[in-house]
Amino acid sequence: MSEENRAWLLISRPESYFSKDNVKFETIPLPELSKGGFLVRNIWISFDPTQLNWMKRDTYIEKIEIGDPVRSINVGQVVKSNNSKFKVGDIVTGMFGWQDYSISDGSYVDHVIPIPSLNPPWYSLSLFGITGMSAYFGVKDIGRVKEGERFVVSSAAGSVGSIAGQICKIIGARVVGIAGGQEKCKWVINELGFDDCIDYQSENVSQRLSEIFPEGIDVYFDNVGGEILDNILTKIRMKGRIILSGAISSYGSQNFYPLRNYRFLTTRRARMEGFIVTDYYERFGEAYKQLRAWVTDGRIRQKEQLFRGLERAPDIFMNLFTGKNFGKQILQITDYP
Ligand SMILES: NC(=O)c1ccc[n+]([C@@H]2O[C@H](COP(=O)([O-])OP(=O)(O)OC[C@H]3O[C@@H](n4cnc5c(N)ncnc54)[C@H](OP(=O)(O)O)[C@@H]3O)[C@@H](O)[C@H]2O)c1
Repeated sequence: MSEENRAWLLISRPESYFSKDNVKFETIPLPELSKGGFLVRNIWISFDPTQLNWMKRDTYIEKIEIGDPVRSINVGQVVKSNNSKFKVGDIVTGMFGWQDYSISDGSYVDHVIPIPSLNPPWYSLSLFGITGMSAYFGVKDIGRVKEGERFVVSSAAGSVGSIAGQICKIIGARVVGIAGGQEKCKWVINELGFDDCIDYQSENVSQRLSEIFPEGIDVYFDNVGGEILDNILTKIRMKGRIILSGAISSYGSQNFYPLRNYRFLTTRRARMEGFIVTDYYERFGEAYKQLRAWVTDGRIRQKEQLFRGLERAPDIFMNLFTGKNFGKQILQITDYP
């Protein structure tokens, strides 16, 4: 086993969006294993917009300390262990960071359950990771979407949005996506079965939504915030629900977009509610069971973009904020055993 641990360390906090100047690629020593600790060789790294928030400030989780490896959710293999629950050879997922090796005490680490038809197991970073879980609990618990309802999702070709829309199609809702570019829109309609999709870069979102749903929208799954959210507030129906998943359009600014139209929530007796997927940690098993059944039946599909090489981590992360990503981005940094 290599004694070297290459890592991307956070050296400054992004002021707006992330840039390569915020990190440094270094070889750092491997810490000693404590009692109950184990060493993970990282194999796949997930990229999630919320990592930008972790770099900037305390949120629902403590910020990343300056000088520490960038925090990320990974899948890896246990290669040394003083912990009876995590044995050498086990495949595990946890917040292991942009580095070759990580030490863990087992907090928030889960075993990856192998699914032969979905091998290799990077689905643990996408459909069975925070993106699939967010889509599932956002739709089921916060949106409580019902058959026949009019459902809209932004960042519709993204990791969370694409799954949320497909779950709503299974429920029997009428599903419209909002995405950046014709290619993404065609994919969600032709490959995922959405009823329609609006390209916010070339179309007037407000006008198109009024044409598609002249009677308004029952549920909006918001991944972007900003102007689109403010506009959809004016179209929300009586007893409508807005699921606040994320606000990526504002992640680069110091101030959030000021909402002018929230008063429609009062007149329409509508609800707008946020959530953080880890609130549902105890219920992940329920979502896993359902999502697994749907994906093995071919009722849910997901696109992945696989990259190789730890040195590429910053470039791949930046794709999330330019829309260059198309599908869940996974970085493989060593061979899968
Ligand atoms: N609440 C939770 O617990 C939770 C958990 C996971 C994720 N989330 C949130 O869910 C959202 C989607 O995350 P994801 O992992 O599925 O990422 P993703 O949608 O796969 O990728 C990010 C996408 O955001 C869009 N985007 C980037 N900058 C934008 C801007 N300025 N305005 C509008 N759209 C922009 C781009 O899509 P287009 O090319 O279509 O513009 C980009 O592809 C994020 O807001 C994230 O923070 C929340």
